Amino acid sequence: MVATSEYILCEVKSGVLVITINRPDKLNSLNKQTIEELHEILLESENENDINSIIITGSGQKAFVAGADIFEFANFSIEQGKQLSSIGHFKIFNFIENYSKPIIAAVNGFALGGGLELAMACHIRVVSDNAKMGLPEVSLGLIPGYGGTQRLAQLVGKGKAMEMIVTADMINAQDAYKWGLANYVTTQDELLNKCFEITNKISSKSPTAVKTAIKVINAGYNPQLNGFEVEIEEFGKSFGSRDFKEGVSAFLEKRKPIFKGR
Ligand code: COA
Repeated sequence: MVATSEYILCEVKSGVLVITINRPDKLNSLNKQTIEELHEILLESENENDINSIIITGSGQKAFVAGADIFEFANFSIEQGKQLSSIGHFKIFNFIENYSKPIIAAVNGFALGGGLELAMACHIRVVSDNAKMGLPEVSLGLIPGYGGTQRLAQLVGKGKAMEMIVTADMINAQDAYKWGLANYVTTQDELLNKCFEITNKISSKSPTAVKTAIKVINAGYNPQLNGFEVEIEEFGKSFGSRDFKEGVSAFLEKRKPIFKGR
């Protein structure tokens, strides 16, 4: 059973785990403990059959996540900096990107630095109209270290990513939508409802097929893999799943499928 911890609130609603990063007095910035707690919850919920998808949001009205905790790394050495980045990639950012269930970022305010990197690692982003998004690390003499240099360019293109990172400018929700960084923009009140609208659609689909789709789409962005070859392989494997048999039988029998995720 996934459970709330010191900096992470958890609530399961009709098959959707809502994770709220809960350090509002520090604008939900990611300290080491928050990263650990988030990792643990994601690890546990991967094996929970009654969880189909996940929404990640921030506590309060002001911030999704305002970045990594600057106080924690203020005196880091080169080696500690490298470790901070690689542990973050492993425990959260790559972990989320390759997660077997869809994860939606409900961006409810500032998404800066590691906060925008967290949103970008998620599979889908829904953004409230007050949100401000950016990678301001160069203002601190740093660069993004949780995948931001790569994922921002994948989402908005190299030119815009270059501009956002070297100027450290924040963009608003409408620009994020225009540039492909946000799938949808809503009011803050409607933010979670829009996310649930998406998770409701996903929950009626085959979990095995959804998991495979995430894997194959990501394969195309992995320089060590050929996305087309992975697609051929995984498309073939889908024919061996019970979900495929159920999906096709339901179509032929003109009824709704009951997928078991196998
Ligand atoms: N790490 C640690 N603490 C942070 C933080 C971060 N990334 N971002 C905000 N906080 C803390 C502030 O220190 C402050 O704490 P305090 O009340 O104990 O002093 C609290 O959150 C509120 O932030 P504050 O700066 O007072 O709010 P603001 O409305 O004036 O400004 C921001 C909001 C987001 C513009 C500003 O907090 C900011 O620039 N944060 C850093 C963003 C950043 O550079 N992120 C990338 C890190 S690599």
